[in-house]
Amino acid sequence: MSAANLSTAIPSKATVFVIFGGDGDLTWRKLVPALYSLFLDRRLPPQFKILGTGRKDFSEESYRQRLREGVERFSAAGKADEKNWTDFASNVSFLQADFSDPQGFAAIAAELAAYDESFSAKAVRLFYLAVPPVMFKPIVGGLAGEKLNRDRGHARIVVEKPFGHDLDSARQLNRFLGEHFLESQIYRIDHYLGKETVQNIMAFRFGNALFEPIWNRRYIDHVQITVAEEEGIGHRSGYYERAGALRDIIQNHLLQILCLIAMEPPISFDSDEVRQKKVDVLRAIRPIAPDQVGQNAVRGQYGAGSIRGERVVPYRSEPGVAPDSSTETFAAVRLFVDNWRWQDVPFYLRTGKRLPARISEVCIHFRAVPHQAFPGAALADSRPNRIVMAIQPEEGILLRFEVKHPGPSMALAPVMMQFYYREAFKTRSPEAYETLLLDVVRGDSTLFMRSDQTETAWEVIAPILEVWKSVRTTDFPNYHAGSWGPEAADIFIARDGRSWTLPTFLQCSEDLATCRVAREFFEQPGQGA
Ligand code: BG6
Repeated sequence: MSAANLSTAIPSKATVFVIFGGDGDLTWRKLVPALYSLFLDRRLPPQFKILGTGRKDFSEESYRQRLREGVERFSAAGKADEKNWTDFASNVSFLQADFSDPQGFAAIAAELAAYDESFSAKAVRLFYLAVPPVMFKPIVGGLAGEKLNRDRGHARIVVEKPFGHDLDSARQLNRFLGEHFLESQIYRIDHYLGKETVQNIMAFRFGNALFEPIWNRRYIDHVQITVAEEEGIGHRSGYYERAGALRDIIQNHLLQILCLIAMEPPISFDSDEVRQKKVDVLRAIRPIAPDQVGQNAVRGQYGAGSIRGERVVPYRSEPGVAPDSSTETFAAVRLFVDNWRWQDVPFYLRTGKRLPARISEVCIHFRAVPHQAFPGAALADSRPNRIVMAIQPEEGILLRFEVKHPGPSMALAPVMMQFYYREAFKTRSPEAYETLLLDVVRGDSTLFMRSDQTETAWEVIAPILEVWKSVRTTDFPNYHAGSWGPEAADIFIARDGRSWTLPTFLQCSEDLATCRVAREFFEQPGQGA
């Protein structure tokens, strides 16, 4: 989709991945498994090195062994084949470094110079910040101290989320990064943008003549975007207590999906063209006045409950969480995009931890037909059209439409057409990090956040953050783990005469032919209309 990844060319320039936080969880679970998959698929440049760096003490051997465990647990490839792993691991090293100490950066610079010598070429250097945000400044400062940021053609920096904590901190961070790197050298990650099904939103909208003419306020009643998770917060209380669901998922992943649904067709897939069209959406989102926050946003926190039959503890009893924490683990917002295409069409975004399923879905609800010629009796089971884009775990698209129910009389009934990636294509979908890492290697920033995108996204949620900070909650916890969130969220959408859509692809992953929930949802009257 992005300009460069339209081609399948294998990047040819020697490349070094310098991973700060090379001893951390992200490297172990995501980055190195993704790099290994790219290596197996022969998509990495022929000459490459991975230099992990961090505080922990690893020998070369123990570091490679640790990464191998991660690859075997988390990569699509599963158990690493001996020969492939040995070839891959021969390119992996670890350097113990304290990021507050300039000596560490001198050692990194020396290592990079030695790599260049071994390649007989100047390598592209990707500095990956897989570290908590407090480390961003010392690392960028350290790189600048060694002039490792200077070579604009070869130095790139990848910044993981969270990108700031609010609008001010995001601005400051952008300013600071901008002092040391050009915008074209900076790759701000939102891993949702690397997901195949998220990229597919553009293919679906702009690769078909069918949908674009009806993709507007005339035909669309409203849009729901859900990112639901079964997991709690695991061991991330240090981060999550300060973040909460609004910052963690809505400010980035959900707003980016909204942009893809709402953006105008780009003129080309040039990275700035696509990103500009997305920023235009964010800029058009109607600002929420402080006294309107209650009508446009709902928060929740999970109490005790059960997930898949297992009892789980309330958020406030998770390790590291304050017993009176007011951090939200559920958030729902209603946004309007003030432009000709979308005026007054609500976009409902919701996310939560400890919901009944891990499921991400976009549901486009179409308006009812403007005039019903059929007699009332024919319409008892009829439903407006709907398009569901399943992002995960099921990957596909589903279209609901009306047909005549077989029988002597005229009666309408909803049916569905479905497309599943795993049925239509026999190839594996790459993990988001595979796509994103490859794009950084190629120097394609289409799927990364530009500085103004991050700031405008913070502007959108800033009023909600402000009000939620100043008005303490009195009703937390307000939903049971394993439920679809607080009752307040149902009341919130019911005020508009609508209801949350039961995620359509729920349970479909077990067996497509007996997709029970989808069948009930589509075939029985009275459910999820
Ligand atoms: C991360 C959030 O950005 O996305 C996590 O910080 C969340 O809290 C995760 O669990 C979800 O990602 P995915 O790809 O599993 O949907």
